[in-house]
Amino acid sequence: MKLKIENLAKRYGNFDALRPTSLDVPEGEFLTLLGPSGSGKTTLLTMIAGLSLPDSGDIYIDGKRATKEPAFNRDIGMVFQNYALFPHLSIAENVAFPLRMRRIPEGEIRQRVTTMLEMISLPHVADRVPRELSGGQQQRVALARAMVYRPSIVLMDEPLGALDKNLREQMQIEIKHLHKRLGTTIIYVTHDQEEAMAMSDRICLMNGGGVEQLSEPQEIYNRPATVFAAQFIGQSNVMSANEVLDHSCSPVTVGHGTRIMVRPEHVRIVSEPRALDHHSTVTFIERINTGPTTRYFFRSNSNQIVSALVLNSDLPHELVDGQTCTLSWPSDRSVEVREINP
Ligand SMILES: Nc1ncnc2c1ncn2[C@@H]1O[C@H](COP(=O)(O)OP(=O)(O)OP(=O)(O)O)[C@@H](O)[C@H]1O
Ligand SMILES: [Mg+2]
Repeated sequence: MKLKIENLAKRYGNFDALRPTSLDVPEGEFLTLLGPSGSGKTTLLTMIAGLSLPDSGDIYIDGKRATKEPAFNRDIGMVFQNYALFPHLSIAENVAFPLRMRRIPEGEIRQRVTTMLEMISLPHVADRVPRELSGGQQQRVALARAMVYRPSIVLMDEPLGALDKNLREQMQIEIKHLHKRLGTTIIYVTHDQEEAMAMSDRICLMNGGGVEQLSEPQEIYNRPATVFAAQFIGQSNVMSANEVLDHSCSPVTVGHGTRIMVRPEHVRIVSEPRALDHHSTVTFIERINTGPTTRYFFRSNSNQIVSALVLNSDLPHELVDGQTCTLSWPSDRSVEVREINP
């Protein structure tokens, strides 16, 4: 195991910034810490980096206890939200910096810097200083600097947060590409769920200083464990079980403290529920056309908003405000979600 975290915890005063958390990260994995602001992502990352000390628990890197090792002994690279390049050094010298710190011979430094600048598609800027680059270019240089000495783990805390949407998407591809070429273990922090879905081998969803769910992206999307996970990742309809009916028109039975979740793209607006489907009777309130799709919004009997996502290449539904409708979906698309994580 590349990185093993055992019951790691951090308190500030009497506030739990990170509740006891355990986590295994295999060699070469791209793991994303995803969660709302204040959920403990940076707290966890800085302890892995050795920039802050846990109150309890342990960190193992390559099987060796690293809990109290200083940051410079951990062989970990870091990239932050604001690139923090050295303003007076050239781009080449910025990238060379970690190698100089490690007293790598000059010839090898030059060769590695050149390769790295090619990898981030910026071989022509070696002699410029950071302020002569755009924000996205500076962030790419920061990536190169973090990876040039081939640390065994790279931590990235919202590295694309300062970039506009198009540039973010380009950089996502760039980071994935670097990950694939170098095989580095990456722990990546974001609060953007689409970014997490697009980039990660696994997502560690955090909430209130703890791990809500740790799964592969498709698994967490298709099988969220809790209401929070269902609502944080993708669009979701969460309904009480008594308003979801099965094929014999009886309410679906669920365990104590759980509800039913179905994704809007699985919900059909029908005149008769299909055999074996789950269905619910609702009132139409609104539609929103986004170009390729239309989202139809309804109110359920218990006053929840539920929606159906329909491709605009399908026939439009002629619904009037207040109209009673039947929503229907394959029963295996109903997911039982816990209201809270125990
Ligand atoms: N030095 C500190 N002193 C006191 N409280 C802190 C300190 N650092 C963090 N916290 C608190 O710990 C909690 C977790 O903070 P953390 O920075 O880990 O959140 P985050 O998930 O990274 O959020 P964001 O997405 O906003 O960066 C927050 O409530 C924060 O206010
Ligand atoms: Mg943070």
